[in-house]
Amino acid sequence: MINKIAVLTSGGDAPGMNAAVRAVVKTALINGLEVIGIRRGYAGLLEEDFIEMKRGSVSDILQRGGTMLLTARCERFKTPEGVAAGAEILRRNHVDGLVVIGGNGSFCGAQKLNDLGIATIGLPATIDNDLAYTEASIGFDTAINTALYALGNLRDTSYSHGRVNVVQVMGRHCGDIALHSAISCGAEGVFLPEREPDILSLCKTINKRRDLGCLLNIVVVAEGCSLSLEEIKNILAKQTGAEIRTTVLGHVQRGGSPTSYDRLFASRLGAYAIDLLLNGQTGRACGQKYGRLVDFSFEEALAINKDIDDSLLKLFEMLSK
Ligand code: ADP
Ligand code: F6P
Repeated sequence: MINKIAVLTSGGDAPGMNAAVRAVVKTALINGLEVIGIRRGYAGLLEEDFIEMKRGSVSDILQRGGTMLLTARCERFKTPEGVAAGAEILRRNHVDGLVVIGGNGSFCGAQKLNDLGIATIGLPATIDNDLAYTEASIGFDTAINTALYALGNLRDTSYSHGRVNVVQVMGRHCGDIALHSAISCGAEGVFLPEREPDILSLCKTINKRRDLGCLLNIVVVAEGCSLSLEEIKNILAKQTGAEIRTTVLGHVQRGGSPTSYDRLFASRLGAYAIDLLLNGQTGRACGQKYGRLVDFSFEEALAINKDIDDSLLKLFEMLSK
């Protein structure tokens, strides 16, 4: 029997976290549950930084980037003592269910709370899209659109000056932001953490394009790539003689108003999490497969290794020639 739930956002913020919080809170309230918001992720849990969530608490947040509950990274929560203290605080506050909105690190914490008897559900929210059990995560679609906008601007200046623009995008150890945005902007090169960079083949492409009179060249580099921007710049300059400019897109990719995809996905997931809790399900990581919402145990979800989608990589290689 569930009477009171809590919700928190944790790890790197992602556009659409607010839409998920709103859906969790509204669905819970409609079902007669009491809801508390935990501010600043697991750090706020350990400090009992709680706020009561009413309908008005989540008005006018659907379209906002960031997270109204704030987020944090909390080293203490990685220790058995930290998790035990968090579980004890939730029990003392009569919390019967917890919704954790975050990425794989946050899910590790959620799994441990669940193992200590706190009914916990995880909603995937990370711009990196590095959770293998789900085909989408909240924030990824907005992040690739933000990257795409910046790459479009760089195409203009790359063409005007006949330069090679090398652009680093986020993703931690995952190349999804890089590959998706590279295909969408028609980039000439992409370097991913999942594959050894073939820089000499890119040099050949750039030289061939120069001989054909093509002026613009965009190279997208995932931050987890084994070569640094400086190394790539130096090799390209030496092998092609081109003038090179580098750009690090950085945290602009983490903010901004969520796309309709992220708002819809986050809203569906938020309602789904409450349905699971009301049906007595716990320890589930929610996500999407073939467009349908699905849930896995945290153990199953976290055990699946993420790799790059080879069909997308082949598509990039064909279209960038
Ligand atoms: P994300 O959830 O976006 O992957 P992090 O990896 O930074 O972000 O994790 C967010 C927080 O989740 C960490 O600061 C920590 O409090 C908690 N966390 C991460 N890994 C673990 C773990 N192995 N055990 C318990 N808590 C963890
Ligand atoms: O996980 C999201 C992410 O933006 C990664 O792409 C990046 O590596 C990391 O977080 C940056 O973290 P911070 O916000 O601590 O700079």
